[in-house]
Amino acid sequence: MTTGPNRSKAFLFSGLVRQPADALLAVIGMHRADPRPDKIDVGVGIYRDALGATPVMQSVKVAETRLLAEQASKSYLGAEGDQRFTDLIAEVALGEAVAHDPRITGVQTPGGTGALRLAAELIARSGRTPSIWIGAPTWLNHGPIFHEAGLEVRSHPYFDQVSGELDFDAFLSGLCEASAGDVVLLHGCCHNPTGTAFSDEQWATLGKLISKRGLVPLIDLAYQGLGEGLEHDAAGTRAMLDAVPEALVAYSCDKNFAMYRERVGALWVQASNAAATATVRENMLVLARSLWSMPPDHGAAAIRIILEDPALTADWRAELAGMCRRIRSLRLRLGGAHPALAPIARQQGLFALLPISGTDVVRLRERHGIYMRSSGRINIAGLREESVDRFVEALEPHFQIPERSIRALSQR
Ligand code: LMR
Repeated sequence: MTTGPNRSKAFLFSGLVRQPADALLAVIGMHRADPRPDKIDVGVGIYRDALGATPVMQSVKVAETRLLAEQASKSYLGAEGDQRFTDLIAEVALGEAVAHDPRITGVQTPGGTGALRLAAELIARSGRTPSIWIGAPTWLNHGPIFHEAGLEVRSHPYFDQVSGELDFDAFLSGLCEASAGDVVLLHGCCHNPTGTAFSDEQWATLGKLISKRGLVPLIDLAYQGLGEGLEHDAAGTRAMLDAVPEALVAYSCDKNFAMYRERVGALWVQASNAAATATVRENMLVLARSLWSMPPDHGAAAIRIILEDPALTADWRAELAGMCRRIRSLRLRLGGAHPALAPIARQQGLFALLPISGTDVVRLRERHGIYMRSSGRINIAGLREESVDRFVEALEPHFQIPERSIRALSQR
């Protein structure tokens, strides 16, 4: 009754077009299906310890045990989520002084992705039609998040793949095309996928330029504590908030609390004055209510318990510092293993973008069981100490860098 060519045109979903699988999630699936015992997974961005595991942090376990014993109700909290969590994590991310600035308001979100999407919807709701400028290459999901919210996504380069360094001049010249009111996406630290980061001077230059041209920064702070340490990794974000009247900060607890699947994040917005901030907050709550009604509670409640207890906070900080040290030591080892990898020792966080082609990525997968994104992005923490030599040996024939550049790289 409902078949036949004419009838099928009437179906609602017949207008949908096929979609490719998410490239990163596909890498996880392929790695899982590979039976080789010495396979190497440097694909998805999760921290792994020396044994290749992603354990629940001890401080989180203690907090979860307390939560289980003490939680008296699971009734609704509200569209803002656990406000005490958001206020406490604001002190970690933005610093105590800034966190209490009346021009800043924040809500809990489902992960950093939820924070970015809420930011995108808020920007779209402003009544202007700004573009969002995103340095390329970036996290695979950045473009879709803003595009789906109706923003025009503009890309501008910021990375020199041969030197492995941030090309700050290219980044700035891209921004010179932005119009007043446009939004600029900035990685707070540990750029995904390049492992680069703005220096203090570059943050200061960006602050001046953004303020002078009337642009609005949206900072994605997803790896605080995994680059150079909690304070250092947030310094650029804090400097930017000080330099401009309006800004947004999207925060993720996925990595620094190893809470990936709990989806814990926050979005803060700084408006030009306290009255404007109150209106911004009302709009954030209306949007959150229609997007997810209320964020999931468990992970945020556990983090609140950690941050309310100084001893537990100290334990969490120590665990995080240990994770950061392991990443740093792997970076130094890789950087010293081959001149083409030398930039890795100067970069930070989980990621590095290797100078290899997509075809080589496929060959590495098929011949050596090494799994990474087709762009050549690797998750450094996916390596185990004992697999580094084999990894470098497998990579060596694939580096696409002229001999003289390789020599220059190791001399920097
Ligand atoms: C990554 O870039 O690997 C992570 O941020 C995971 C994700 O959601 O893409």
